Amino acid sequence: MTNNSVVEIQNMVKRFPVGGDFFTALKNVNLNIDKAEFTGLVGPSGSGKTTLLNIIGGLDSPSEGEVNSLGMDLKNTSHGERAELRRSQMGFIFQSYNLLPVYTVFENVELPLILNKVDTQEREKQVVEAIEWVGLSDKIKSRPAMLSGGECQRTAIARAIVHQPALILADEPTANLDAENSHHIMKIMVRLNKELSTSFVFATHDEKVMGYLRRIIHLEDGEIAKDENIDKPEFDE
Ligand SMILES: Nc1ncnc2c1ncn2[C@@H]1O[C@H](COP(=O)(O)OP(=O)(O)OP(=O)(O)O)[C@@H](O)[C@H]1O
Ligand SMILES: [Mg+2]
Repeated sequence: MTNNSVVEIQNMVKRFPVGGDFFTALKNVNLNIDKAEFTGLVGPSGSGKTTLLNIIGGLDSPSEGEVNSLGMDLKNTSHGERAELRRSQMGFIFQSYNLLPVYTVFENVELPLILNKVDTQEREKQVVEAIEWVGLSDKIKSRPAMLSGGECQRTAIARAIVHQPALILADEPTANLDAENSHHIMKIMVRLNKELSTSFVFATHDEKVMGYLRRIIHLEDGEIAKDENIDKPEFDE
């Protein structure tokens, strides 16, 4: 693993048992992702985007090959070690926000810090800062039911970034949002990437998301069909 990579995958295959047989969801995947990349997995439904993202995040394990995320060999680690890696160094953003309905915005964002055993005073400081980052300071005491979809997703982003993870994995983060909110949350993530060098990997088929990506990895039938670096001028903020 070179110093600068956050993900290294070699000759990886993923098979799922289906009935008495197997379905091969990922075939011969070789992939390196460097620190501070802003990259996305794109491709048709069923091409393996979520499966690959879950394997990078240690939520699922490969059937064959090597997977190393943030310096940890995911094949030779225990369930508990992978959970600790996720808790301390990764952030997750999903299509369906996954906020706890009885908790306020503050409490939802605070959760990763409680799990990481950060003390109360430091916790408060980091939560307030993360909520400022996503522009939700005026909603800090609201519960998810009182928020719009865009505000829910911004809360989920604050929760994903509050412990300043090295790597954020986002699976269809804009799928439930309108165009304006989609652009808003993408701009927040571009800024995080630029200012904190946080690495991002998206799984998406949203053209709006693709417009912000600096590298697009195309999956087709579980294989990397194309891997392109996008040269683009600095984004307007
Ligand atoms: N647990 C599982 N058991 C069996 N097959 C699975 C399982 N999870 C995923 N698959 C299959 O693996 C393939 C890839 O699924 P995956 O969810 O990674 O696709 P995707 O590219 O994220 O699609 P979408 O754009 O619809 O989210 C699909 O054919 C899916 O049916
Ligand atoms: Mg998916």
